[in-house]
Amino acid sequence: MRKPLNSPFNPGSDSVPEIWAGRTAQLSDWRDVVRPRRLAGLPERGRTILGEAGLGKSALVRRIAKEASAAGDWVTPQLRVPSGADPLKLLAAAMLALAEAAGLASAREQRIRAALDRVQAVAVSGISLTIRQADGPEPYAALTELLVEIGRAAIGRGNLVLIHIDEIQNIQDAAVLSQLLIALGDALAHEVEVEAPGGVLVSRTLPIAVYLTGLPEFLEMAGARSGATFARRFQTVTLVAIDDDELTAALQPFVIEGWAVPDDAGGMTRVRMEPGAVEAIAELCCGEPFLFQLAGERAWYADIDDVITRPQVLAGWETARSEAASHVERILQRLPAKELDFVEAMAALPVSDRTLTQIAKRMGSDKASDLGPTSQRLDTARGIVERGRPYTFRHRAVEAYLTSDWPDVPKG
Ligand SMILES: Nc1ncnc2c1ncn2[C@@H]1O[C@H](COP(=O)(O)OP(=O)(O)OP(=O)(O)O)[C@@H](O)[C@H]1O
Ligand SMILES: [Mg+2]
Repeated sequence: MRKPLNSPFNPGSDSVPEIWAGRTAQLSDWRDVVRPRRLAGLPERGRTILGEAGLGKSALVRRIAKEASAAGDWVTPQLRVPSGADPLKLLAAAMLALAEAAGLASAREQRIRAALDRVQAVAVSGISLTIRQADGPEPYAALTELLVEIGRAAIGRGNLVLIHIDEIQNIQDAAVLSQLLIALGDALAHEVEVEAPGGVLVSRTLPIAVYLTGLPEFLEMAGARSGATFARRFQTVTLVAIDDDELTAALQPFVIEGWAVPDDAGGMTRVRMEPGAVEAIAELCCGEPFLFQLAGERAWYADIDDVITRPQVLAGWETARSEAASHVERILQRLPAKELDFVEAMAALPVSDRTLTQIAKRMGSDKASDLGPTSQRLDTARGIVERGRPYTFRHRAVEAYLTSDWPDVPKG
């Protein structure tokens, strides 16, 4: 029997969703590139994963962290930066916990003790350390130093150190952001000498991987303030909607075998989904992971029997409409005025007329070139439009909201 207690759908939680769709490129980047290269001592940049709200940035790196942890890596918890908070304190506290895991806390070496003491001070005072101790080491230097020690310990143990900082767009203080990026960037670039077989000394990077996640606004903050260093040391990916066939594939276990849930008699039963139900969920959620979980959850709640049908998906979605609409409205509201005008003008045009010239005209301007930076930001930084001939929407929920009755369900 279906009940809220046994629903595998989970909209709006940061935990790794039980029903996982897509993101294969990012997962294999971790499995096949980032982890093996850093373990082998090869240079490999940190990763910045950006995207509009609800696209699954946090969930993706949580999943990566879970895999890393299962492989024996030392992993920080997801370090969420609250608005206005000092992330150096957060990172320092996480580093101390990693040092503990690495067995450094009991180290007798003076060098390591001193590094731990300095990071302890950062954990307490954060950036204000810079202001108080004008001639002491800067917080970033202390953090890098300890990271390097943890990295050395990881080499000895053959595992990796994974750091995940989330909501990085909340770091508004330029000095803090630059200290943070330098501390992490320096640790990523740091090389140590190790003895290769045969006794030759070779230099290698430390087995450290860094993931930063947050809203696209971060790109401009980091670009303007710490531009070159940031771009050299971090590779940025902007997440976009998940393809329908990936969503369908994620629901396939429901179609073929059914999803196992406890029955009322102490045993197990299976909840199935009609192919028409799968199709309806994929259609309604427009590739948005958050809406995918929401549509699934509402379909699950729509009845209690063991088969989820298309009418149940539609009935469930009825109760999700206002939440789905606010999801998109929140994204639109965060857009700067000119970008919002742009997507609205674009949406108002017939599909084949969506050229830069036509969009500019609709916005009351003769010069398409004025819109260059706006359209570029909407494309590369935000993943909302695609500058083709004609322009198309990459954010399918924004498109559906602006150009159709969605999230209303068509009758019949
Ligand atoms: N690959 C995925 N497959 C299925 N569901 C997913 C996937 N990624 C994320 N989700 C679900 O989508 C919802 C939003 O994910 P998440 O919180 O990670 O998004 P986000 O990009 O971090 O959003 P925000 O910008 O608001 O922090 C969650 O309910 C999560 O379970
Ligand atoms: Mg998030």
